[in-house]
Amino acid sequence: MNNLSPFDPNSLRLQFPALQLEIDGRTAVYLDGPGGTQVPQSVIDAMIGYLSHGGSNSGGPFLTSQYTDHITNAARTAMMDFYNARRPDEIVFGQNMTSLNFSLSRALARTWQPGDEIIVTRLDHDANISPWLLAAQDCGVIVRWLDFDPVDCTLRLDLLTDLLNEKTRLLAITYASNAVGSITNVQHATELAHAAGAMVLIDSVHYAPHGLIDVQALDCDFLISSAYKYFGPHTGILYGKYELLDALTAYKVRPAPAKPAGKWETGTQSFESLAGVTAAVDYVASIAGEGGTRREQLVQAMQQIKTYEMALSQRFLLGATQVADLRVFGITDMERLTERTPTFAVSIDGMTAESVATRLGEQGIFVWHGHYYAVAVMARLGLLDEGGLVRIGFVHYNTFDEVDRVLEALAQLR
Ligand SMILES: Cc1ncc(COP(=O)(O)O)c(C=O)c1O
Repeated sequence: MNNLSPFDPNSLRLQFPALQLEIDGRTAVYLDGPGGTQVPQSVIDAMIGYLSHGGSNSGGPFLTSQYTDHITNAARTAMMDFYNARRPDEIVFGQNMTSLNFSLSRALARTWQPGDEIIVTRLDHDANISPWLLAAQDCGVIVRWLDFDPVDCTLRLDLLTDLLNEKTRLLAITYASNAVGSITNVQHATELAHAAGAMVLIDSVHYAPHGLIDVQALDCDFLISSAYKYFGPHTGILYGKYELLDALTAYKVRPAPAKPAGKWETGTQSFESLAGVTAAVDYVASIAGEGGTRREQLVQAMQQIKTYEMALSQRFLLGATQVADLRVFGITDMERLTERTPTFAVSIDGMTAESVATRLGEQGIFVWHGHYYAVAVMARLGLLDEGGLVRIGFVHYNTFDEVDRVLEALAQLR
């Protein structure tokens, strides 16, 4: 592995056709990564490659079907490396995180009894709240809510022990907030939940492009993400401990596979997307340079990404203090940058989030506004009916110049 190669976003950016977009003679600034990242040429080529090769449905005794099975197996192995799962059949593909979570919630709810309890958090995206609320409602299960601290927007894990008891069946928790960027100590949360006999599901959709995932170290029971948040196509990927995927009853048609992972995959997968998933994982691994296993490369690449993104966060937070009337939500303490992703929810006094995002958009700076489905976060902050916040989200392909550009634009808005 080439540990000496400095992290160079400008050379990486050249691999992303979309990042070359110009608006009024200036390069567009993509600060909408938390809503979905752009993809490198290798991902585009892999998807075109599958479609051009001639594909077929899986499981047939002829070339194009065998090719499809090869593509699927390769994607499972790639995601096994990405999550550090024990075996490829712990990896389940689906349309997106939300659909997979609804399937899982349905299956888990079959094992619950009236009077059982589950825990969801106010820091989560609604895709990791509503499926559980609905499942709980269907079978008379009590829902407990884990709060976050509205000052630094981090989860109150100190309150978790009080919520857990022998009736708790599940903790559904976010690895990182897609609204305010706070990272949760999910390993600690998992230990606490397991000590009480509860299962743990982690939503890693927002965390995945920013840090290394290791399901074996976390010891979580389930974890889900979506490849379009980390430079791949629109496909959801569920990890589950093999024994659980095997033992639980999935909703499936006859005679779909009885064993994981196929047992959990409904209908026909987007095989071209699976080709893209492998390419996305390979892209992230390639950031580390040559040599070593793919997992070793991913470990190294994620360290480089994390270090660089912390520098972006620092530059943004320092600059933000100079912009009049700009308020940044979440962790702003420079000593705590390891506890956040470079995703910032901000407001400008006297302006709606929508008008800020619109004005930035007119200048070719792409940011989201509103609640971005972090409905519980905005409700807790009292902002749900106020139009929410502006979300400025950096990923590793953003540059210091882009940080400066958005800060300058914010300063000039009023
Ligand atoms: C933290 C988080 N969880 C879940 C989701 C839902 O993911 P998907 O679009 O794959 O259903 C998102 C999407 O923005 C997200 O940011």
